[in-house]
Amino acid sequence: MSKRIIALAGSPKRRGNTGLLLESAVKGARDGGAEVEIIYPNSLRIKPCQGCNTCYKVDACIYQDDMIELYHKFKSAGAFIISSPVYFGSVTAQLKTIIDRCQALWMEKQTAKYRSGQERPGLFIATSGHPNTKGTRFDSSLEVVRTFGYAADMRITDTVLVADTDRIPVTEDSPVIQEAYEAGRRLTERMLNT
Ligand SMILES: Cc1cc2nc3c(=O)[nH]c(=O)nc-3n(C[C@H](O)[C@H](O)[C@H](O)COP(=O)(O)O)c2cc1C
Repeated sequence: MSKRIIALAGSPKRRGNTGLLLESAVKGARDGGAEVEIIYPNSLRIKPCQGCNTCYKVDACIYQDDMIELYHKFKSAGAFIISSPVYFGSVTAQLKTIIDRCQALWMEKQTAKYRSGQERPGLFIATSGHPNTKGTRFDSSLEVVRTFGYAADMRITDTVLVADTDRIPVTEDSPVIQEAYEAGRRLTERMLNT
C-alpha cells in the first residue's frame, strides 16, 4: 500500500469554508510526512453513474472519462481525506457523482477481483451554513461517505465538522483551522502505523 493520501475537495470553492479546512488538514498530513494529492472534482470531466451494471458484467465502466484515473488512485491510496459542504442535506453533487461511480469498485469487490487488502483510514471534513442544533446536520453526508468507504476500503477514523458558517465563516485564523491541521497529522500517523 502506498503512503500517498488522496484528498477529495468536494466544494466548488477552493478557498471557501471547507477548502480552508482541507488546506490545513493537508498541511498537517504533509508535515507528518505524507505525500498528499488534492483532487478537485469540480474541475474533472465525470459522467454520473447510469446504473447499467456493465461494471458487473464486463469489469469496466461504459464511460472512459476522468474517473478511470481516479479508480487507480483510490486503489493505491494509503489514506483518504474527503471534504464537502452540506448541500441540501448531503454532500455536493460533484463529490456524489464520483462516489456513485465507485459502484464499479463495489462490483469488483463483489466478484472478488479487487480488494485493497486493508481498510484505509479516512478523515471527513464538512461544513454547513446552518447551526447543528439537533446534532444531525451532518448525518446524511456521513452516511454517504461511510458507504463510499465500503466500496473503497476506507473507514472514517476522524471528522472535522463545522456548522453555522453562515454566521461564523471559516477564516485562516479560526480555531477550527488548527483542529483540521491536527486531524491531518493524526491521519498520517495512522496511515504510517498500519
Ligand atoms: C446549493 C447549496 C445548498 C446548501 N444546502 C445547505 C443545507 O442543506 N444545510 C446547511 O446547513 N447549509 C447549506 N448550505 C450552506 C453551505 O453548507 C455552507 O455555506 C458551507 O459552509 C459552504 O462551504 P464552502 O464555503 O466550502 O462552499 C448550502 C449552500 C449551497 C450553495
